[in-house]
Amino acid sequence: MSAYLEFSKLRKVYASSKGTAVIVDDFNLQVKKGEFVALIGHSGCGKSTVLSMLAGLNEISSGGIILAGREVSGPGPDRGVVFQSPCLLPWKTALENVMLGVDQVFFTASRSERREIAEYYLAVVGLGDALDKKAGSLSQGMRQRVGIARAFALKPKVLLLDEPFGMLDALTRIELQQALLEVWQRTRLTAIMVTHDVDEALFLSDRVVMMSNGPAATVGEMIEVPFARPRNRAALFEDPAYYQCREQLISFLEERAHLKHGLPRPARIPETQTTHNPEKTSS
Ligand SMILES: Nc1ncnc2c1ncn2[C@@H]1O[C@H](COP(=O)(O)OP(=O)(O)O)[C@@H](O)[C@H]1O
Ligand SMILES: [Mg+2]
Repeated sequence: MSAYLEFSKLRKVYASSKGTAVIVDDFNLQVKKGEFVALIGHSGCGKSTVLSMLAGLNEISSGGIILAGREVSGPGPDRGVVFQSPCLLPWKTALENVMLGVDQVFFTASRSERREIAEYYLAVVGLGDALDKKAGSLSQGMRQRVGIARAFALKPKVLLLDEPFGMLDALTRIELQQALLEVWQRTRLTAIMVTHDVDEALFLSDRVVMMSNGPAATVGEMIEVPFARPRNRAALFEDPAYYQCREQLISFLEERAHLKHGLPRPARIPETQTTHNPEKTSS
């Protein structure tokens, strides 16, 4: 089987004054068309490095990435990106900001068709009433909605989201996760999203890929997220499987946290010492 998106033996080496550092090594991952993958791992392990290589914004040291049968080299409109804060022109309206991208990518469509595309995606992310508001006057959450609408409106082959809600407060974050799910549900674009929020990963994705710590970070473990779509947060919270998945993710991260800080794992008292067994004689 050939995957829609495949990372093969991906490696990234950065040169610094202290020499070279292998940040990512032997990173292998296959993603199906229409799959939503969450990538989690400790800060600094190399998640953004992996995404930026896929985006074509960061040189691949060795190995490669194949997207829809073609090897990735350099940036292109077949890969859409959503970062922590969207790059919008503050003096233009929400609609104009999305239109800028749509006009470039769908230049063969008529003006009214292009406008329709932009309006549709803005409405899906909840900005139907804010089309004519200047981007500069929008809240951070609303600006990120514009960023998401724009990314989806351009219909990339894969969407890369690098901690897109990292700057938002908890409540806005939850609203934006919902908005992202709404638009993803309608488009089913192949997506890779970096997050350090395990609940976000489980709510949104089909599979969570856990990255090991650097240096030479790679794919550690993976879990298939078993919840049916469309998803409902309240129903998820009532599902025992949710807590099993959550526990698995958290214990992976916790284990790595000890490694990361060079701390010993908390000592586990051996069972023989904790259980009182009168039959056992002390010898
Ligand atoms: N341009 C660069 N030059 C040298 N080192 C870098 C560069 N970019 C990132 N790094 C290092 O690579 C490691 C991984 O960074 P990054 O991919 O941003 O991690 P993450 O997104 O998982 O937090 C970090 O140790 C970081 O300091
Ligand atoms: Mg990062």
